[in-house]
Parts: sequence; structure tokens; C-alpha cells
Amino acid sequence: MYVLAALMTCGVAQKQCDMNAVGRTAFLVNELRAQENRRAEPRYYDPYSLIFSNVETREMVRDFFIPVDADASDITARTVFFDAALRSTNAKQVVVVGSGLDCRCLRLFDPTVTYFEVDQPQVLDYKIGQLDLTYPSRLVRANYSEINLVRELERAGLDEEREVFFLWEGNSMYWTPAQTERLLGTMLGIRGGATVAFDTFTSKIADEKDYYRGPEEEEDDGRSILKSTIRDYFRDRLNVSENLWIGPLDDIRSLAARLQAEIVESTDLLSFMLGDVYRVPDIKTHHFRNQPARVANFFEEFAANYHAHILRRGAT
Ligand SMILES: C[S@@+](CC[C@H](N)C(=O)[O-])C[C@H]1O[C@@H](n2cnc3c(N)ncnc32)[C@H](O)[C@@H]1O
Repeated sequence: MYVLAALMTCGVAQKQCDMNAVGRTAFLVNELRAQENRRAEPRYYDPYSLIFSNVETREMVRDFFIPVDADASDITARTVFFDAALRSTNAKQVVVVGSGLDCRCLRLFDPTVTYFEVDQPQVLDYKIGQLDLTYPSRLVRANYSEINLVRELERAGLDEEREVFFLWEGNSMYWTPAQTERLLGTMLGIRGGATVAFDTFTSKIADEKDYYRGPEEEEDDGRSILKSTIRDYFRDRLNVSENLWIGPLDDIRSLAARLQAEIVESTDLLSFMLGDVYRVPDIKTHHFRNQPARVANFFEEFAANYHAHILRRGAT
């Protein structure tokens, strides 16, 4: 591979040297987000993503995914979904947990909102280091599985008596279902009330080997469609033994009931792309128009098993 290995040793990416595998995934999604700026009709602009995009990160995406053009990105769909969620909240405190290279506090800046971000120190330091501006978010530099999240946010200025909007995007895949439930419970437990927007894979994506195992002829430009579970695929690609991509979620209703939370919205990304906000009239001919049919099928099923949710619990 490994572009990732190259990433750790070369020029522009020098500062990424000490980034662990999970931190490096921030560059993958950022690159997919960046591609949207270059489409004929972008569904959003994220000019900040271009700052973190370079030849290595583009290579990384090419190496990581089967050839995907920007039209086929689930990241685009989830970005649109979470942008809308953030725009519609009345909460004046926004916390982006596992924020990576996300710059919504700049892109969707509202001077009446206090922003917070939580991520590993090296990820946040890299991000801020690349931006020549006053970054609006208050930063909690930590492994958030090892801290008292609410207490650290309070130390950064969060007021627990006031409503909080949490964005937990592209993160549940690193957690077991039990850890996910605990973390959601922590976020939803904010005394002033909380909304949590987050995304999950179903077990079909995470666990089913046959789902991704294609026959040998399914080769494309020397690359094969995934022939292992996505968990194994990512683990291999990231060259780590960390427990990646382990936390599928199949039943949001039961989870919400256990958490005593209201489901504000829950959708698979395929339905979202076909729906009113996104308005792709025909997923095969529009969203995947530049892809061979079998790749389009693959991404269509992937999107059907990639879900985005918004849960809310009122003030206590
Ligand atoms: C796939 S990226 C997604 C980043 C961002 N939310 C986005 O959608 O662009 C995952 C990010 O979560 C961070 N992350 C995952 N688990 C974490 C943990 N336990 N503590 C701190 N950061 C974590 C990683 O460092 C990485 O930046």
C-alpha cells in the first residue's frame, strides 16, 4: 500500500507523522468532501477541505476505495444531512465529537453559537496549524473514550444547563454497540437538553463477508471490489490491529427507547439521496452515472445500509 505509509514520511504530510490510524481516516473523508467542490453542480461548498487536500490524500482515497468519482460519495450525502441538522437546531452550543478536519464551525458559522470540538491532539493541532485564521471552536484535545466528556466540555466553557447540539459523524464505526449506547447516553444526558446527530453502518456492511465478496472477474483497474468484510478491509488498508469498524447498529428504535430519546429523524443514505432534500431522481443513472453497473450496485447497497440519525432528549 501503502500510501498511508508514504503519508507518514513525506513532505507536505510531515505533520501527520504521529497520527494514528483512526486519526488518518479524517483525511479520507476530508478528501471525499473536497471532491464535491469540483463537481459541476456541487451540493455544498467546503473550501476549507481543499486546504487539507493534497496529492497524498488524493492517492490515499484512490488506494482506499474502488475508483469513485465524486458523484458516488456517501460522504456528500451525509454532509448534506448533517448540515441540514445543524442549520435547523436552536441550540446555541454545538459540540462536534471526533471532529477530524471538519470545519462546520467556519462553514456554517453563527456568531450567536458557541462551538466545541473534541478530537485527538495531533488531529486538532494539525488542523489549526493549517488554517491562518481565528478558529471559532473551543478545543478539547483528548481521546474522548478516556475522559469525562461532559466535565471536559464544561472546563472548555460548556454550560450544562443550556441545550447542546452534538454532531458525532463518522465515528460510531470505531465503537462497540455497548460503547455507542453509553456515549449517546452521556450526550443525551445534558441537563439543558440535547440533540445528537450521528451515523451508523448496519451489520450487513460491517459483518457480512459474502456481501462484499465478489467473483474474481470483478476486477476494475487492477482493484477488486471488497472481498472481505468492510471491517477487515479497513483494518488491512489502515494496516493496524485496532478494533476498527466494529459497531454496527440495526435497530435505532430500540436504542432510542432504551435511551429515552425521541427519534427526530432516521434515514438510510440511499433514501436520503432519493428524497426531497437531495433530489436524485434515479440513483443509478444520476448519482452513479460514471460508474460501471456493478460498482453502482455496490454503492447503492452500501448507501442503503449506511444510516444517519438525529436523537433528542429534553431538559431534565
Ligand atoms: C472518520 S474521521 C471523521 C471526522 C469528522 N467527523 C468528519 O466527518 O469529517 C474520525 C475522527 O474521529 C476521531 N476519533 C475517533 N475516535 C476518537 C476518540 N476516541 N477520541 C478522539 N478522537 C477520536 C479521529 O481522530 C478522527 O479525526
